[in-house]
Parts: sequence; C-alpha cells; structure tokens
Amino acid sequence: MTWDALRQSCLACSRCPLAGTRHHVVFGVGPEDAEVLFVGEGPGQQEDLQGEPFVGPAGQLLDEMLSIIGLGRHNCYITNIVKCRPPGNRDPQESEQDACIPFLRRQTKLLRPKIIVCLGRIAAKRLIDPDFKITRDHGQWVEKGGIWFTALYHPSALLRDMTKRPDTFRDLKKLQAKVLEAAANPHRYDIP
Ligand code: URA
Repeated sequence: MTWDALRQSCLACSRCPLAGTRHHVVFGVGPEDAEVLFVGEGPGQQEDLQGEPFVGPAGQLLDEMLSIIGLGRHNCYITNIVKCRPPGNRDPQESEQDACIPFLRRQTKLLRPKIIVCLGRIAAKRLIDPDFKITRDHGQWVEKGGIWFTALYHPSALLRDMTKRPDTFRDLKKLQAKVLEAAANPHRYDIP
C-alpha cells in the first residue's frame, strides 16, 4: 500500500465511534523516510481542528524538546495511536486503539524507522510493553525486530508537572546519542 492510499483510507475511516465526533482525522506529519517516529496517544482539541498532530500547547513543548537535540518536524515523523480525538481528551479506549492500530502498523511498515519514541504511557503500553510504567521505565531502550524503542513523559505531563523535566532532559540526551548511532548504521529493518 502507498502512503497516499493509506492516508485516503485513514481519512475516510469510520471503524470506531470517534469518527462521529471528529472534525479532522489526524493522520501524521513528517518526511516519509524519517529515521525517527514519535507516537503520541491521540489528537487534542487543536489537533482535531487543524488536522495535524501536536500543534496545541503540548505540541509547542514537543517542538522545543526536539529542537534541543537537533530534531524537528523536518526530520521526524509524528503521529498518534488513535487518529481521531477522544472527546474531552479522555484516554483512548482499548477498542478504539484496536480499531486504529492497523493504520500505525502500516505507517511504520512504509516508514521503516530506526527508532520509535513513545510519548507517554498510552503509546508505551501499546508499543513497548502492556506493563510499562512511565515513571519507572521512561528513558529505557528496548530493541524489537531491529527497531529501537523508548518512551518519554508526554509533553502534556511535562506542562502539568515541571519536576519531571530534568529526567526528560536526560532522556532526550540519550535519544540524541541513539539517533547519531542509528544514522551511522545504513540498515533499515522491514516490519513483518
Ligand atoms: N497529545 C497527543 O498525544 N497527541 C497529539 O497530537 C496532541 C496532544
């Protein structure tokens, strides 16, 4: 499947009830050959209105976090576990995640990233380990199928709680080192 075909099928999706309350499907942004994939949980109000991930207050902080380590929307792909806004910014339900995850799987297959960074608990539980505890496990790295995974505190959590920021700074420096290491390795793995 091509990026265009995947985007079109995602934009037309009505596999879960979130389709009924959305303004826009938030498919994802970034170069279609980016080596680093960031995955949040789901669009918030601004993202739903604009159709782009991480454009609200949490997104502004994410942009600042990325720029500290030389990353940005020009060299990363950014998307979410669910592509439509959960009303009132509640957590996406398991059934909504189940309905939407095939889109992320196909995006990952097309992108062939070297590194996947989960933003927050929801993405980390879904992509790294169902028992993931963000306070305990943030900043740790695991390799699965040739792809390196880690999780950072969600930028919204960092907006609410400044005391988490020093840990996140350290996690970002580790991410920077991993990005440099990955860039030196020409190999990109296929997702089965
Ligand atoms: N929070 C998310 O998890 N994703 C967005 O796109 C915006 C806020």
